[in-house]
Amino acid sequence: MIKVENLRKTFNGNIHAVKGVSFSLEKGEIGCIIGTSGCGKTTTLKMINRLIEPTDGKILVGSDDARSVDPVTWRRKIGYVIQKAGLLPHLTVKDNISLLSKIMKRDRDFITRRVDELMGIINMPYDQFANRYPIELSGGQQQRVGIARALMEDPPVMLMDEPFGALDPITRNSLHEEFWNLNEKLHKTIIIVTHDMDEAFKLGHKIILMHKGEITQVGTKEDFLERPANAFVEDFVQGHSGE
Ligand SMILES: Nc1ncnc2c1ncn2[C@@H]1O[C@H](COP(=O)(O)OP(=O)(O)O)[C@@H](O)[C@H]1O
Ligand SMILES: [Mg+2]
Repeated sequence: MIKVENLRKTFNGNIHAVKGVSFSLEKGEIGCIIGTSGCGKTTTLKMINRLIEPTDGKILVGSDDARSVDPVTWRRKIGYVIQKAGLLPHLTVKDNISLLSKIMKRDRDFITRRVDELMGIINMPYDQFANRYPIELSGGQQQRVGIARALMEDPPVMLMDEPFGALDPITRNSLHEEFWNLNEKLHKTIIIVTHDMDEAFKLGHKIILMHKGEITQVGTKEDFLERPANAFVEDFVQGHSGE
């Protein structure tokens, strides 16, 4: 479904942020990219979404090559959720969720129906929340609205950059559960960036550990616990879980 081959990014000719990253995810699979700060996670995600042009490498969604279409068309296939939701403060919940569809000039009936449906999916009833502003929501609710916004045009792929990072542990845990159940139904291909190994173990069918711009290991939770690729992976797993 999504395939990344030998992806590279060099900034300013000498900052090698991503140094040849390859992985693939099937439809419905959740991949968690994990690694310490500065290892190239966000740059990888932004290249997949074409917010940053790769220095080299290939990105495929289905059989479509990222280089075969313009960035705007490409991004319609891909929902993007950023840390702290990134909602526009002067727009209501319903206007935040429908932003992209309005830009695409979808008709009013479609928009109303879809926003109502999505607010049901994220457990924030339309009647109660549609006309609120982001500041009138909790952190967890803002994050759910961010997810609904990314789902508005029903993209096959979702990219999420530390989507649960800013939440307290209790809210984070309950959102993990909700998110997992949601994807059992929606069956999207999802890449989640995190620095929390427990989160990666909980949500990722596949875990992609990065270090200094390279992939150190790709595998399941069991692979990481029972068959770490090297001492670095072993230390990382011990140091970043059970927090
Ligand atoms: N626009 C940019 N220009 C120059 N260097 C950048 C830019 N964006 C990121 N970097 C550098 O690339 C490396 C990877 O950054 P990033 O992908 O944001 O890491 P992560 O998300 O894993 O914390 C870091 O060393 C960062 O300083
Ligand atoms: Mg980052």
